Amino acid sequence: MSEMTIHEALYTTRAMRRVKKDPIPEDVQARILDAAIRAPSGGNSQNWRFLLVDDPEIRGKLAPIYKGCIDMLWKTIYADRVASMMAKPDDPESIEMAKVQKSANWMANHFADYPILLFGFAQGDPSGGSIFPAIWSAMLAARAEGVGSTITSVMLFQMEEVLKILGVPADEGWVFAACVPMGYPTGRWGLARRRPVHDVAFRNQWGQSLGLEIPEPLWKQKT
Ligand SMILES: Cc1cc2nc3c(=O)[nH]c(=O)nc-3n(C[C@H](O)[C@H](O)[C@H](O)COP(=O)(O)O)c2cc1C
Repeated sequence: MSEMTIHEALYTTRAMRRVKKDPIPEDVQARILDAAIRAPSGGNSQNWRFLLVDDPEIRGKLAPIYKGCIDMLWKTIYADRVASMMAKPDDPESIEMAKVQKSANWMANHFADYPILLFGFAQGDPSGGSIFPAIWSAMLAARAEGVGSTITSVMLFQMEEVLKILGVPADEGWVFAACVPMGYPTGRWGLARRRPVHDVAFRNQWGQSLGLEIPEPLWKQKT
C-alpha cells in the first residue's frame, strides 16, 4: 500500500481521463473498494451498490452510449459555455473549457479501453448525497495506488439503456449516481486548479467576507 499523505491525495486527485489499457490487479481493486465502503452515509444505511465492470463485451456496449451522451452534453447543458468558448477563445475561462472538452472527448473516444468502470448506485436516498463520499473515497484510494479516475454522470441521458446492459433490477429503486472509469495514467499528477477559498466561502452571513485570503494552495508538490 502506498505511503501518500492525505493532503497529497486531496490536492492531486484530478480528473485523470488519459489512462493506459493495463489491467488493475485484483488486490488493488480490493483496496479501492474496501476504502470506499468506509465512507459515511445517512443513518449509516449503506444503501449503496458498486458495480465493477471489466468485461470487454460490456464495456464495448457502453462505449457508444457514453459517446452519444457526451455529444449530447455539449449540445444541451454546456451549449452556452461551448458557444462562448468559440466566440472568445482567448479568455481564461474559454481556455479552461477547451481543455475540459478535449479531455472529455478523449474519454468518450476511448471509453471501451478503460480497464475498469466503477458504477455507484444508491437506494432510498432523497438528497442523492449519501453515495458521493464513498465514490470520492474510491477515487482518493485509487490515487494512493497510482490509479487515475474521473467521476462521470453524463450517462444519465441514456439511463434506461445503461441499466439494461448492467442488469440492474428496474423495480428496486436503485438510482445511478456515477460511473468512474479508472486506469493507470499516461501523464503526471498535478495540483487541482480551483478558484481560491476567499472567492467561494463566506463567514456567518451570505456574502460576508471570510476574513481569510488564500492566494496560493496551502499544500505544494515537492519538486
Ligand atoms: C458530479 C460530477 C459529474 C461529472 N461528470 C462528468 C462526465 O460525465 N464526463 C466527464 O468527462 N467528466 C465529468 N466530471 C469531471 C469534471 O469535469 C472534473 O471533475 C472537473 O473538470 C475538474 O477536473 P480536474 O480535477 O482535472 O481539474 C464530473 C464531475 C462531477 C463532480
